[in-house]
Amino acid sequence: MATSLARNGLLAAVVGLATLSSAVPAPRSADPCAKIAGQTFVVPADAMACLTSFPFNETLRQNVISVVSNIFDFYTFEDYYLDSPPPFQASTVQIRKELARINTTTYSSDYEFSRDIYNVTTIMNDGHTRWLPSCYQTYQNLLPAPIVSLEVDGAQSVFIAPDSVEFINLVGSAYTDYFASIGFDWQRLAGARVLSIAGMDPYDYADLIADTETGNYLDHGVRVNSCWSSYRISGTDFSQRFGDIAGPGFPDRDTLTMEVVLANSTKRETVTIPFLASYLGTANFTDSASFWEVNCAANNETNGVDLLSGGDVGRAGSTLPRRPRAVIKDASQRNAIGLPGPFLPTAPPVNGSEAVIKSFVLPDNKTGVMFVGSFEPDDFNGFQFDVQAAVKQFQAEGIEQVLIDLTNNGGGFVCLGHFLHEYLAGSKIGNPGFQSTNRANPLAEKILATVIAKGITSNFSFYAPDNWASLNNVMLPNTFNYDKPPVTSIINGATYAESQRFFDVCTPFAVDMPEEPPFDLSKVAIVGNADCASTCAMFSTLMFERHQTKVAIFGGRPGLAIEYKGMAGNQVLEWTDIDSEIKTAGLADDPLAPPDLLVNADFRHNWRTAYSYLNEKVPIAYESEQPQFRFPFTVDTYMNPQALWEFAAKQLF
Ligand SMILES: *[C@@H]1O[C@H](CO)[C@@H](O)[C@H](O)[C@H]1NC(C)=O
Ligand SMILES: *[C@@H]1O[C@H](CO)[C@@H](O)[C@H](O)[C@H]1NC(C)=O
Ligand SMILES: *[C@@H]1O[C@H](CO)[C@@H](O)[C@H](O)[C@H]1NC(C)=O
Ligand SMILES: *[C@@H]1O[C@H](CO)[C@@H](O)[C@H](O)[C@H]1NC(C)=O
Ligand SMILES: *[C@@H]1O[C@H](CO)[C@@H](O)[C@H](O)[C@H]1NC(C)=O
Ligand SMILES: *[C@@H]1O[C@H](CO)[C@@H](O)[C@H](O)[C@H]1NC(C)=O
Ligand SMILES: *[C@@H]1O[C@H](CO)[C@@H](O)[C@H](O)[C@H]1NC(C)=O
Ligand SMILES: *[C@@H]1O[C@H](CO)[C@@H](O)[C@H](O)[C@H]1NC(C)=O
Ligand SMILES: *[C@@H]1O[C@H](CO)[C@@H](O)[C@H](O)[C@H]1NC(C)=O
Repeated sequence: MATSLARNGLLAAVVGLATLSSAVPAPRSADPCAKIAGQTFVVPADAMACLTSFPFNETLRQNVISVVSNIFDFYTFEDYYLDSPPPFQASTVQIRKELARINTTTYSSDYEFSRDIYNVTTIMNDGHTRWLPSCYQTYQNLLPAPIVSLEVDGAQSVFIAPDSVEFINLVGSAYTDYFASIGFDWQRLAGARVLSIAGMDPYDYADLIADTETGNYLDHGVRVNSCWSSYRISGTDFSQRFGDIAGPGFPDRDTLTMEVVLANSTKRETVTIPFLASYLGTANFTDSASFWEVNCAANNETNGVDLLSGGDVGRAGSTLPRRPRAVIKDASQRNAIGLPGPFLPTAPPVNGSEAVIKSFVLPDNKTGVMFVGSFEPDDFNGFQFDVQAAVKQFQAEGIEQVLIDLTNNGGGFVCLGHFLHEYLAGSKIGNPGFQSTNRANPLAEKILATVIAKGITSNFSFYAPDNWASLNNVMLPNTFNYDKPPVTSIINGATYAESQRFFDVCTPFAVDMPEEPPFDLSKVAIVGNADCASTCAMFSTLMFERHQTKVAIFGGRPGLAIEYKGMAGNQVLEWTDIDSEIKTAGLADDPLAPPDLLVNADFRHNWRTAYSYLNEKVPIAYESEQPQFRFPFTVDTYMNPQALWEFAAKQLF
């Protein structure tokens, strides 16, 4: 099967090449999606021809705009965007003006319309609040030249990742055969120093991508780190991320031109490197009609449901608690590539390392490392058992100091971040989370009042008061209307109404919690690249704000400030989540309620604010906090977690 895919890819590549070298433009294929059907890798122009083939449709625009504008009413940070406070001022976006503009712009295709909304939510730089169209997030563009920033001989510069050959080979022969077929030698570029990208200083190019395409993180410096290739845990495996320069989310560039000096050379040369796009869809298509059907049309899981109706066994009638999540969606997780073998840690793994946490004892025999790749494991309780197992083994082996690596941790279950904080700090700290609120807009107030009147509980609604605890850490009675009265404040001249404050309820945990910290907290430190989102940002902020934990951030742009946390809302609701809240409260027909989406997409939003422990007037998202330690990546550490940990252990303890 893989061979036949590869052969198809090769055939397409050869046809693509013939078209390129021909002086006469080839006639546009009758069905541009049929042309790329069944192929894992396609030339970007062919993917774009398919994506842009669907005509603009006013019905869809009105549908999408009503959902988007309605959901922005629930968005806790809306008013901050009017004039984002420093150092985040570049994230200022006039949200309602942008929607009005999009509502009247003439678009050449449905893609252009949808991409415009995508772009506006991207430059808001809040990974919790984004328009994510399944239809158009179907091809990731991949450049066989991932980019990194390294310090060599005391100076930082931009390079094509020295491990490119090992890494790109892991993408597979269907990918590399294409470059062989067009005679493009990408292997020779490994380790080349990059003098310019697209005619710009390479750091300026990273700034541009960080400001226009990366999104997700409020702080510019953090977004710059997202541009570089980096290690991570994807699923339960070590992985290398392409980075946003070499792995952008849309196939809208054919090539990237760089001026480079090859490794072992002193000669400048200009190379034009072709991208090849990778299909991310989960279902196959054969032509435009079936592409629309499997990727773009609304399906049975696009919209929310009345969870009390019991008609939807997959999602409703659950006796399990509904768990608050705070996590980004990184499309590059969908076809993650492994970390090349030479970079896998050689230190013996510690118990509890099978899932999203990988723990090790370093060769110094005194440093324990927990690489927490995510807070969204498949097994919620298993995460807690893994932490317990690792800590027990660290203690048995006499570990004196612990490094927590949060590199590329996109977040996950809110209560697992609070769990890890409480496990390390001891249960005597009281509630391990932040003071929290949601927005009291008129529809939210109606949902809450209805949920209370109907006695709907936390297993069917996040609005239900019994999800939360009072500031005395006592669970709210399910009759307590925390929006009565709402709390108002003025943000950038706008009146913002929110709920009274409450805490998350995460207890009881699945494991016995230590009352005292298992390790001297001054001997626990955090390392990472600051691409630490949502629950990860809450965890690191709790450690920093409450225990002054040392944080060391690697990478970024030399000389440019960086925050240690990426993006820090308290809870995200996907479109289906908020739509289910509305429907479960019986308010689907309320004049304030949004319609069902007619296309397959998510419009997620940050639904709760976490307030800083240091400054309880300020959301942690807007509390500027920089790491006490900052280091460049080097040839030894940029893709080698264990080398980075050994370096950090020497610097931090
Ligand atoms: C626009 O989209 C709507 C909803 O999917 C559909 O019913 C209608 O036929 C489309 N209009 C055109 C002109 O294709
Ligand atoms: C978009 O325009 C339509 C009229 O074409 C109007 O009814 C609707 O209220 C507008 N929506 C927004 C959010 O501006
Ligand atoms: C979206 O942003 C990208 C990157 O800046 C840009 O190339 C593209 O033209 C934008 N598209 C729309 C429709 O705004
Ligand atoms: C550069 O030279 C070293 C030592 O001769 C060699 O190991 C390495 O493969 C060369 N790198 C490239 C990219 O040619
Ligand atoms: C898609 O097509 C490939 C190749 O023919 C096949 O291996 C795969 O199972 C198909 N996937 C689905 C979801 O049908
Ligand atoms: C939606 O339909 C698909 C395919 O028919 C099915 O596998 C899936 O379970 C359905 N999802 C829900 C929530 O009903
Ligand atoms: C809701 O959750 C509670 C426990 O919190 C459980 O006792 C109850 O059975 C659940 N209700 C339903 C209808 O599943
Ligand atoms: C660490 O422990 C191992 C196994 O007991 C031992 O071989 C090694 O020498 C120790 N290393 C140090 C730095 O003490
Ligand atoms: C590691 O886990 C195994 C299997 O559960 C257990 O027997 C062993 O005692 C654990 N080791 C330590 C040091 O906790």
